[in-house]
Amino acid sequence: MERDFVGKKEFPIKCEIGRGLEGAIVNNTQIGYVNGKEGRLCYRGISIEDLAKYSSFEETAYLLLFGKLPKRDELNGFKEKLKVSRSIPQGIVEMIKILPKDTHSMNLLMSAVAALAGYDKESQKVTLESEKEVAIRIISKIATVTAAISRIKKGKEVIEPREDLSHAENLVYMITGEVDESRPSLRGVDEEISKAIDMALILHADHGMSGSTFTCMVIHASLSDFYATIAGGIGSLKGPLHGGANERVIKMLQEIGTPSNVEEWYGRERKLHHKIPGFGHRIYHAHDPRARIFKEYCHRVATTEEIKNLLAIAERLEEVEIRELGEKKGIFPNVDFYSGIVYKALGLETSLFTPLFAVSRVAGWTARVLEYMPENRIFRPRAEYYGPLKQEYIPMEKR
Ligand SMILES: CC(C)(COP(=O)(O)OP(=O)(O)OC[C@H]1O[C@@H](n2cnc3c(N)ncnc32)[C@H](O)[C@@H]1OP(=O)(O)O)[C@@H](O)C(=O)NCCC(=O)NCCS
Repeated sequence: MERDFVGKKEFPIKCEIGRGLEGAIVNNTQIGYVNGKEGRLCYRGISIEDLAKYSSFEETAYLLLFGKLPKRDELNGFKEKLKVSRSIPQGIVEMIKILPKDTHSMNLLMSAVAALAGYDKESQKVTLESEKEVAIRIISKIATVTAAISRIKKGKEVIEPREDLSHAENLVYMITGEVDESRPSLRGVDEEISKAIDMALILHADHGMSGSTFTCMVIHASLSDFYATIAGGIGSLKGPLHGGANERVIKMLQEIGTPSNVEEWYGRERKLHHKIPGFGHRIYHAHDPRARIFKEYCHRVATTEEIKNLLAIAERLEEVEIRELGEKKGIFPNVDFYSGIVYKALGLETSLFTPLFAVSRVAGWTARVLEYMPENRIFRPRAEYYGPLKQEYIPMEKR
């Protein structure tokens, strides 16, 4: 039998495969750590709770990308770079407009981000120095593209970015287009929404070797450009088993209708062996700390009857799910369970939920790709072949 070698392994071999690469280690990193047993998350050693409380998206992105909290002038310089990169070419806006109206927002985002490469010639160099600058431009522009998608889908005019606003404030401004000049301290942009979005952007910015992060690593390791890389990450994030779960959660809560329907609904779903969106995680077998923060925030923004009802259904469902599967299988709410309620309370449409995740996670994606670049090696795992080793080719007329 023919023999092949990879490292110390001989092929063909019999080995145990962790389905979905469970347990596989991709690389060494100093960027972020998920402790699934204790339900802790930190970026560069700083807890997500502290970052959510004290940081801003810009500062958190700097921390992820450059490995330390910035000094004032470093932060100002970083913010400036983000601000001057905000606008997007008219060609991208036109491209979004000509695609079918019911195209999923994440497909639009993917296409637009991939197409941005054509306007950024430096992006084709793919050197460590050039990629650091390209990363900042993508982090900046993905927010503008997301806002443009939201406006175009609603049949509204696309709003140009402003340079006097923070990343989150400008994002909210470009989505809502609302300026209230009676609130000059906020430069006209809704403070409550901006703060909540800033917090959401911090909470989603990085999360270990998630499916989308690994996708980005794989694409970029072939020395493909950053726009193609991030477009790939967006494609992975779209799936309902990953970032797309936040959209599903809201639909599920609406379908349940009232807290008193939860038990019966849950019983039916479990009989069908359905997984409940917003619960479970490959790494966490305890409470996801981000879900706790979002839940707390839900209580602050639940002012209408509709949102109070959605929150009451969610809390009841959490109780039931934990009673049934919490200790037994380590299934607890994940980040997507309460985030959608916060977005909905802020008046954002469901189709924006997953793109907002991408606007944030792009910081982690780019940071991890940049970290890997100095020792880059293309990813090339293998599959265990179990098909026939020798088979005759049968001509068409004899099959
Ligand atoms: C996140 C997720 C994809 C992780 O998948 P995974 O690591 O491959 O875990 P598995 O699908 O192998 O689940 C392990 C066990 O827990 C159960 N489980 C996992 N998530 C569950 C959920 N949301 N509801 C009910 N049971 C769940 C599985 O049925 C399985 O049970 P079994 O051992 O009896 O077959 C999975 O938990 C899921 O689909 N969750 C819902 C979607 C979601 O919220 N995604 C966002 C993640 S941030």
